[in-house]
Amino acid sequence: MASVKLTNVKKVYDNHVVAVDDFNLEIADKEFVVFVGPSGCGKSTTLRMIAGLEEISGGTIEIDGQVVNDLQPKDRNIAMVFQNYALYPHMTVYDNIAFSLRLKKVPENVVYEKVTHAAEVLGITDYLLRKPRALSGGQRQRVAIGRAMVRDSNVFLMDEPLSNLDAKLRNQMRAEIILLRKQLDTTFVYVTHDQTEAMTLGDRIVIMKDGFIQQVGTPTEVFEKPHNLFVAEFIGAPKMNIMKTELVKAGGKYYVTPYGAEMEVDGVTGQLLAQKEVSGGEVILGVRPEHIVLAKNPAPNAIEATVLVNEMMGSELHLHVQVPDGTKLIVRTPTVDLSHEERANLKYGNKVYLTFPGKVMYFFDPKTEENLIY
Ligand SMILES: Nc1ncnc2c1ncn2[C@@H]1O[C@H](COP(=O)(O)OP(=O)(O)O)[C@@H](O)[C@H]1O
Ligand SMILES: [Mg+2]
Repeated sequence: MASVKLTNVKKVYDNHVVAVDDFNLEIADKEFVVFVGPSGCGKSTTLRMIAGLEEISGGTIEIDGQVVNDLQPKDRNIAMVFQNYALYPHMTVYDNIAFSLRLKKVPENVVYEKVTHAAEVLGITDYLLRKPRALSGGQRQRVAIGRAMVRDSNVFLMDEPLSNLDAKLRNQMRAEIILLRKQLDTTFVYVTHDQTEAMTLGDRIVIMKDGFIQQVGTPTEVFEKPHNLFVAEFIGAPKMNIMKTELVKAGGKYYVTPYGAEMEVDGVTGQLLAQKEVSGGEVILGVRPEHIVLAKNPAPNAIEATVLVNEMMGSELHLHVQVPDGTKLIVRTPTVDLSHEERANLKYGNKVYLTFPGKVMYFFDPKTEENLIY
């Protein structure tokens, strides 16, 4: 059992870098929370403050209601897995996993039981007598996780544990971490710069930028209701298309006019805009690549664009196109929807015509970059 609560947590390093500021978050017992954001936004610093590896400059951190600000890392009952694995090179896998237990003078028969059980769960039983250098990256990562597993800690902290692995292994280990979570049934705080990892692993995601939390929410919430432009562009791949355009309110309806095309905002979104008393004017319009519709022919209210790059991804195409003012947009389209001939026509220099369904438009204030609705 362990909940974690951070209140007004701040970190200023000796060189006056403010790494984390005004960080407020309550993590429930057994919750899986992911900190995500670009490099340098303060993810590792926050995680290390929870672990007690970094002193905090302000605020309080509580574990299960107890303030731990001045508690040594070893007294916090926390396990941590690092990006670089931090294995002891001269020890076997068995001894690496057993290390913390032996420090605590746990009897050897219990050590044996715990190490072999962790190895079994992680599928590394056959490698227990090897040294780390004789293992692949994925196997080393499993050993690092095993070492954290045997500690029976209440909170499991992971800092970019998959970022040293190649793409295929990363996908596989991601699925294994989801299974591991089910088996350990403990509180997880997981750090990554990768939005896919955040979306697939987290019960909730904490999106950070420049030391500040931008938004906290479930994967669905942050995807469908991004609070600002930064979150909107960070979550989702390929990233959301962004356009400056005019929002017009007429006859109880809203319209946008990107690149001279006129497109109606659907009724539900319109109601939400009306509730916020948005009267119109210059806005930033966001449309996700999967929400752009390719029209077959020129239409008065479609945007004419020129194909630059056509990336065949298998089940879908990523089409990079350019509109007359030079702006580049990305369109994601399922390949099954296209005939062989249509697909062949989507090549460099050819014209395509784009429309946006009104129910999947996002609107941001051009000055504050805040979402006009959420
Ligand atoms: N030991 C340190 N001393 C001084 N500045 C640091 C130290 N560690 C990190 N920083 C700075 O704090 C900020 C946040 O770093 P970090 O928490 O490592 O970010 P992230 O893990 O999100 O990439 C960065 O600007 C980084 O340069
Ligand atoms: Mg980091």
